Amino acid sequence: MSLFRTKTIEQSMAAAEEADHHLKRRLTALDLTVFGIGVIIGAGIFTVTGKAAKEYAGPSIVLSFIIGAIVCGLAALCYAEFASTVPISGSAYTFSYATLGEIVAWIIGWDLLLELMLGASVVAQGWSQYLVTFLGQIGVTWPESVGPGSHFDLPSFVLVAALTALVATGIKESLRVNLFLVGIKLFIVLFVIFAGIGFINRDNWSPFIPPSSPGTAAEGLTTPLFQWLTGVTPSTYGILGIMSGAAIVFFAYIGFDVVATTAEEAKNPQRDLPRGIIGSLAICTVLYVAVALVITGMQPFSQIDEKAALATAFTQVGKDGYATLISAGAVAGLTTVVMTLLIGATRVTFAMSRDHLLPGSLGVTNPRTGTPIKLTIIIGTLVALIASLTPIGKLEEMVNIGTLSAFMLVSLAIPVLRKRRPDLKRAFTVPGNPVVPWLSALACFYLILNLSIETWIRFVIWMVLGFVIYFGYSRSHSKLATGESEVSPARSPALEP
Ligand code: ALA
Repeated sequence: MSLFRTKTIEQSMAAAEEADHHLKRRLTALDLTVFGIGVIIGAGIFTVTGKAAKEYAGPSIVLSFIIGAIVCGLAALCYAEFASTVPISGSAYTFSYATLGEIVAWIIGWDLLLELMLGASVVAQGWSQYLVTFLGQIGVTWPESVGPGSHFDLPSFVLVAALTALVATGIKESLRVNLFLVGIKLFIVLFVIFAGIGFINRDNWSPFIPPSSPGTAAEGLTTPLFQWLTGVTPSTYGILGIMSGAAIVFFAYIGFDVVATTAEEAKNPQRDLPRGIIGSLAICTVLYVAVALVITGMQPFSQIDEKAALATAFTQVGKDGYATLISAGAVAGLTTVVMTLLIGATRVTFAMSRDHLLPGSLGVTNPRTGTPIKLTIIIGTLVALIASLTPIGKLEEMVNIGTLSAFMLVSLAIPVLRKRRPDLKRAFTVPGNPVVPWLSALACFYLILNLSIETWIRFVIWMVLGFVIYFGYSRSHSKLATGESEVSPARSPALEP
């Protein structure tokens, strides 16, 4: 059996259309955009930005955001074409199974797991940081021994546990809550921008690109691979700092790809998915650039608080009330991101277990709740432990490397699919094929090179583990290997009507 055996697109689509497992198509382009914004805006802008500005790029973090947006924009075009051609659940994993073959699908699925599970953990940690900041602002001191950054981050553990329970019992009820929380989050981001404008001191933007300096943030294993390969002295700030910053704030854009996982629930996926993906990315880009300008304008970048940058910027200008409001909003808003990423992780593993690349029994849905309870609990437990036990600031880069690798493979898949299946109906096509998809893959690869050596080592270990599982289990159990016909289709556990 070839490593590159594929499941046909028709096979996957027919399975997803089967009557008793059919999901109602009721999401519009607007719903998808709101859903996208709900996942995208999270710990990236609320916490990671502060750290990246302080340690890597200073005010030029704004340029890092623009670079990040260009890379994501290119990848978003590729995602949009895929989603409009193969509108079935499971995101990039499903797309690649139908085009590039099983081994590539496995790699992408494995990368997505890294993205979604660790992403949920990072945002849970960010949530915990804002919760403790908020409690402090209202006069409650959270014990440091069980707070963010300690050996056991209790708030993030409790958050993930509660959300896991919610996701496991079916999320129909939570959709409305989700919409409300997304509204609060948008309000807070706009509030930061408009309330902050008046406190901008232009001197803080000068120099806009701080001169490159041999920094403590970039030494030893934390040196970006690119700097190590090119033999330059490890440095922060300057042009290289902007690039390292872009590789880090990339985290803030993650999530637009999750929109593609709702393909089966979209009313008109071929038309609306590209709109939802590109629309949510565009809106977030504008907001991020504005927030980055405001935050670096309100204080010298060296004084930015790495833990709760947006709120603390206002404490520093004497607006404690604003800071409290922002912290409360962040606590509410980050919740939805953790939940959606948890659902995403469940969906991907669900699709993988449906194809028997992971044990099929894991993905069995509970007849009462309609959700794969076992899988949800396993993933929720892992995320809760990772979030509460790993030091803050260690996981973001892992999330980025996982996501960027998946983006790279998806981009490369576009020209391949065009060649192999010119007959498929494509409601949206990437302009300038194959150059634009190749550029997209190259841009992702360049950002990956700007991640630290330490991240690369961890990523290689993760991939080796993935290959051990694939060759030890999945390859022989896969439905394509056993010749089992497709019986149980893509029953997506999320967003069920
Ligand atoms: N983009 C999401 C965030 O920033 C993952 O939290």
